[in-house]
Amino acid sequence: MEVKSLVFAVNGERFDLSKVDPSTTLLEFLRSQTTFKSVKLSCGEGGCGACVVLISKYDPVLDRVEDFTASSCLTLLCSIHGCSITTSEGIGNSKDGFHPIQERIAGFHGTQCGFCTPGMCVSLFGTLVNAEKTNRPDPPSGFSKLTVAEAEKAIAGNLCRCTGYRPIADACKSFAADVDIEDLGFNSFWRKEESKDLKASRLPQYSQSHNNARFPLFLKEIKHHDVILSSDKGSWHSPTSLKELQSLLESNQANGFRIKLVVSNTGMGYNKDRDGYDKYIDLRGISELSKIEKDQTGIEIGAAVPISKAIEVLKEESRSDFLADDFAMILEKLADHMSKVASGFIRNTASIGGNLVMAQKNHFPSDIATILLAVDSMVQIMTGAKFKWLALEEFFERPSLSLESVLLSIKIPSSELNKGKSHNQGRTFLFETYRASPRPLGNALPYLNAAFLAEGSMSKDSGRTTIDACRLSFGAYGTKHAIRAKKLEDFLVGKVLSVHVLHEAVNLLKSIIEPEGGNSDTAYRSSLAAGFLFKFFNPFLIDGPSKMINGCTSLPINGSIQSNGNHNQAQHDKSPMLLSSGKQVIEDCSNYHPVGEPITKSGAAIQASGEAVFVDDIPSPPNCLHGAYIYSTKPLARITSLKLRPELQQHEGVVDIISSKDIPEGGQNLGAQSIFSSEPLFAEEIAKYVGDRLAFVVADTQKLADSAANSAIVDYDVENLEPPILTVEDAVRRSSLLEPPPFLRPKHVGDVSKGMAEADQKILSAKMNLPSQYFFYMETHTALAIPDEDNCISVYSSIQCPQYAHATIARCLGVPENNVRVITRRVGGGFGGKSMKSICAATSCALAAHKLRRPVRMYLDRKTDMIMAGGRHPMKITYSVGFKNNGKITALDIEILMNAGMYLDVSAIMLARLVSGLKKYDWGALYFDIKLCKTNHPNRCAMRAPGELQGSFTAEAILEKVAATLSMDVDSVRSINLHTDKSLESFYAESYGEPYEYTLPSLWNKLSVTVNYDQRVKMVKEFNRINTWKKRGISRLPVVFEMGLRPTPGKVSIFSDGSVVVEVGGIELGQGLWTKVKQMAAFGLGEIQCEGIEGLLDKIRVVQSDTVSLIQGGLTAGSTTSESSCEAVRLSCNILVERLKPLHEKLQKEMGSIKWETLVQHAYIQAVNLSASSFFVPTNYSKNYLNYGAAVSEVEIDLLTGETRFLQTDIVYDCGQSLNPAVDLGQIEGAFVQGLGFFMLEEYETNVDGLVLADGTWNYKIPTIDTIPKQFNVQIINSGHHQKRVLSSKASGEPPLLLAASVHCATRAAIKEARKQVLSWSKFVGVDSTFELEVPATMPVVKEHIGLDIVQRYLKWKITNPELVA
Ligand SMILES: Cc1cc2nc3c(=O)[nH]c(=O)nc-3n(C[C@H](O)[C@H](O)[C@H](O)COP(=O)(O)OP(=O)(O)OC[C@H]3O[C@@H](n4cnc5c(N)ncnc54)[C@H](O)[C@@H]3O)c2cc1C
Ligand code: FES
Ligand code: FES
Repeated sequence: MEVKSLVFAVNGERFDLSKVDPSTTLLEFLRSQTTFKSVKLSCGEGGCGACVVLISKYDPVLDRVEDFTASSCLTLLCSIHGCSITTSEGIGNSKDGFHPIQERIAGFHGTQCGFCTPGMCVSLFGTLVNAEKTNRPDPPSGFSKLTVAEAEKAIAGNLCRCTGYRPIADACKSFAADVDIEDLGFNSFWRKEESKDLKASRLPQYSQSHNNARFPLFLKEIKHHDVILSSDKGSWHSPTSLKELQSLLESNQANGFRIKLVVSNTGMGYNKDRDGYDKYIDLRGISELSKIEKDQTGIEIGAAVPISKAIEVLKEESRSDFLADDFAMILEKLADHMSKVASGFIRNTASIGGNLVMAQKNHFPSDIATILLAVDSMVQIMTGAKFKWLALEEFFERPSLSLESVLLSIKIPSSELNKGKSHNQGRTFLFETYRASPRPLGNALPYLNAAFLAEGSMSKDSGRTTIDACRLSFGAYGTKHAIRAKKLEDFLVGKVLSVHVLHEAVNLLKSIIEPEGGNSDTAYRSSLAAGFLFKFFNPFLIDGPSKMINGCTSLPINGSIQSNGNHNQAQHDKSPMLLSSGKQVIEDCSNYHPVGEPITKSGAAIQASGEAVFVDDIPSPPNCLHGAYIYSTKPLARITSLKLRPELQQHEGVVDIISSKDIPEGGQNLGAQSIFSSEPLFAEEIAKYVGDRLAFVVADTQKLADSAANSAIVDYDVENLEPPILTVEDAVRRSSLLEPPPFLRPKHVGDVSKGMAEADQKILSAKMNLPSQYFFYMETHTALAIPDEDNCISVYSSIQCPQYAHATIARCLGVPENNVRVITRRVGGGFGGKSMKSICAATSCALAAHKLRRPVRMYLDRKTDMIMAGGRHPMKITYSVGFKNNGKITALDIEILMNAGMYLDVSAIMLARLVSGLKKYDWGALYFDIKLCKTNHPNRCAMRAPGELQGSFTAEAILEKVAATLSMDVDSVRSINLHTDKSLESFYAESYGEPYEYTLPSLWNKLSVTVNYDQRVKMVKEFNRINTWKKRGISRLPVVFEMGLRPTPGKVSIFSDGSVVVEVGGIELGQGLWTKVKQMAAFGLGEIQCEGIEGLLDKIRVVQSDTVSLIQGGLTAGSTTSESSCEAVRLSCNILVERLKPLHEKLQKEMGSIKWETLVQHAYIQAVNLSASSFFVPTNYSKNYLNYGAAVSEVEIDLLTGETRFLQTDIVYDCGQSLNPAVDLGQIEGAFVQGLGFFMLEEYETNVDGLVLADGTWNYKIPTIDTIPKQFNVQIINSGHHQKRVLSSKASGEPPLLLAASVHCATRAAIKEARKQVLSWSKFVGVDSTFELEVPATMPVVKEHIGLDIVQRYLKWKITNPELVA
């Protein structure tokens, strides 16, 4: 009997749906039809983990429940029939109690904005649940069966833009049975000096019972197959036999239905085929596609088998005693490679067959295709009623699989070659797979992958190896599909391996690995192929693979080339890059208790459970509509027509297209306005940049609005228009410049001509470029506007400056400001990106709501967000620098062309901030000419440390160049140019402070001692001396960062029960502002000295910002809003304390000691005003100050791939008397890792028109757990009393980001070593170190500097020096 309704459970709640649009994803359903909002949409393409859920499914045959995590944004709702879904609210919540996972994430300070946190919790929960099912020994009480490595890998596919991962990793590891509790980082559970047992006992206790109740029993009765679900949107079919499948396909063919075969639908993450189909055919219920069979001839895996399952089986088989050693080794290596495909929550559902079909049909750069090709795999195809086995190679070379063809299974044969004959005397067998990708643990497509299998025989006499057979496959490098390098195989077979042969082979390979047109990094990819080939065959060169390779010695973290040629062949370069440990040292300060305490972030547990409400989590009011932008795809063009696709024009769900024509009378076409600038909401006649807002489609669902906007047809015309200005040079040529107000122009220092005249040497007109960076807040732009009576409107906005949105909306609608209210509770990451662009989002919704008299909301999709965002300012820099022979700089003359985009936005601040960053060193004299170029690009915003980052890095790059020119050690050039008290005063005239406040020299020296800098430098040298294919670099950098405080309001209100509500101008972006404010309110009101006042902290709630309740909130940016908000709260508390004091004294006299609640009750009776507000306005004296810190980073580069591994970073940072060291620690680590992304990983690539090409998680790579420093130590220094600071505190949000340049400089140092070595092969002695290392220093960039032809050069060197060849 057919099942006609979809039954499943979410967090124990039963859902029974009879009509389902089969294109609905689980995420859409959860977020729009249930109260479970912990599943967040961030990327919608499987790349971030914010939407991860646990799926539990009953297996009636084995009578057990299987649990696996999956991305709900790709999982189709119909596919979860009979399943139970657990979201983070289901793991634990504020009502039923939090799960220890959530409590530990909170207590380890592992959440900041909290947008990624529920997904992190579910990812860990899934791993924990499955570890508990293993038959490992029982763990100690309070721990689980999880291992440390599993715990860290649990979140390898989850992105977090705030924390830097270290605290999340610690929370995960705290569950592992094998954890050394001393290795866990700073947390709120224990004190450092406590014993291990005590520490363990202080963790929120965990037992297996915490994981129960995820599978309601009624689901066991549900029939899984023969499901047919239909709606007017299409139908879903789950055939259970090949026959049924055949007849379905046949009937579809006859009727011309649009059908889609689905297994887990993860392919949609890549293909983005979101359009609905008439019929979806789920292949998972057909036993032939889900089987795994093994026999003498090999292993056959059904096409619908998930990759995780395949890995498990291959691993299991590889341990089997019945297989030939070599075949077992092959299986193990295939499994290892597969475990780097995507991330755990994708692999759990993604099928092997789906992967291969995507490779065949969509030219997907598959790993699985390449590795299976090398082992001669076969595939079985069913077309109609015909079945056929094909070699994988033939499968790829055929035309795209037709709709009526189905891939049934894949066979890995244990053929003669796969089995090898390694037991025979003198025969060697080798199999290896490779992938070069920006993230070692996966969740990143490779630049190139490869798999090689070879069999050789070694001559006893000569020790030389003849290649008897080999299979060499390459893929993912920009070809249609993986290939076998047949020409190369033919060349090698029968050859005695020698340096000459390998050299010829590498040259031959060059003509084979030719990425197809339009592919970036072409030469790099082909050099990777040469590198892998070399790595594979080099061990054969001497006397078989059992010996270590020439020139390569292995050191602990090195993983250099070595192999022993048997089943346990060394896992060279396979050691996953995981955070091994981190130390945090903080200095508490109890002067202003509870200010200064490292208390847990306010609301951390509800962030972890997903109950914390973000704008898009607010339930839609009745009649709510959804909006999406139609944006320009031309940089400068007249819009001649704009319309939707015909079928959408008539669609009743599409309600309106709002454009500049809809601005009401009296209103203005204003999208955003601040004190500096304004920009229109919609382009009028002419679009001025790619991403310019043309119109706003309003529809009854977000999906429909997105789809309508994406497929809109816009006609452009460029007649009589000047060409767009797309480069800064063109902007200068055409005098297209933006002018900041004169008071924001920084001042020059000293006399540059004089400084230049004093120089012994000069570098003249050196050039460098700095790129843009995308914010990658996990929550994209979003707003909800609700019209109210009398032309009033309330707008919920995720924004850093509600005040400006408020004013803009009023002007746009032509209503007085008192008609508007903007409410912001929390923001899912801002980093400067939620300022002007968020105003536009809020205003768009407000305008649509105002016109249509219905609520309108918008949640921008990631791609549109990335295209419109603008990001960090890219710039071109030209400088001349004069210096003495001892490295002391005497003058710097610098010209900077900054690409500001179309509108001024907040670029007015960029000049001063850039120069401020530059001034970190004593240049003697400094002259600059900075131009803000107005171009046809989206306006750039003030991304975290705007200007300071570029200024500070430019300073470092200049010192590097000076050091290189002088052949001096750059560290001593840095030391010699650090400011003296006197130079500090002349460079930072407005903020230098008292001499005792200049802590940088002591931090500089302290760091050198704590990290054992001199010794480490020696060790790096030694490492480089004995290693050929890995080089290390180490670098120490200072930071000087000028802070500026802005006026901020605060308001404190005491309720009759003694509980307190605090409102501040500052917005909680994840930076811990609310937590610090809460502590400050407790400190301020604590001055009243009531009985039990210590408990006041728990009675305080900081609430959302509401522009009607508290005006003049300003912009939350520049790291100082926390302290300004705290100060405003302290002032408000002072007012209340003054008002309460007389009553307190009176009552004290009458009653002796008095409780806070009693005092408040009496105050209510006596009509004391218990609400006070204040507006903190910093004085000229206290407005600006300097922050200091320093970092040492050590990295290791791989000369064959260009990969950089971040071995260790140590930071010391002066926080004054930190308001909350736990929060500041999180800011320091998070900022550093975001900086690391800028310097090493993130390419915000555009085409020539400025259209962003890196438009999602597939091609924009922010750091992940495996790309942070392996050892990450942070020390926060309490530098004591600072009279002008808020309770002596200093900010932490931005300066540490600049310290990430230490990683870049260390990479440069390592490259320098590599180049020195390459030079030596050409008989040159010396260093070529004046090269400019680009930002970001991605793998291709690093490799290019080392030399793309390094392998050829090495082999040539060996050939020309035969004495070196064995
Ligand atoms: C974020 C992310 C990262 C990834 N990273 C990698 C990576 O690094 N390396 C790598 O190799 N892969 C990677 N993948 C690809 C992943 O392996 C595939 O998406 C997955 O294996 C597809 O399986 P599926 O069951 O979800 O297929 P589906 O999405 O259900 O199907 C994919 C396509 O194949 C068709 N199809 C599926 N099964 C059959 C069949 N048996 N016969 C005929 N047609 C069929 C479908 O109609 C559809 O067109 C990544 C995927 C994601 C989402
Ligand atoms: S939203 Fe699903 S993985 Fe990013
Ligand atoms: S806390 Fe992870 S993204 Fe903000």
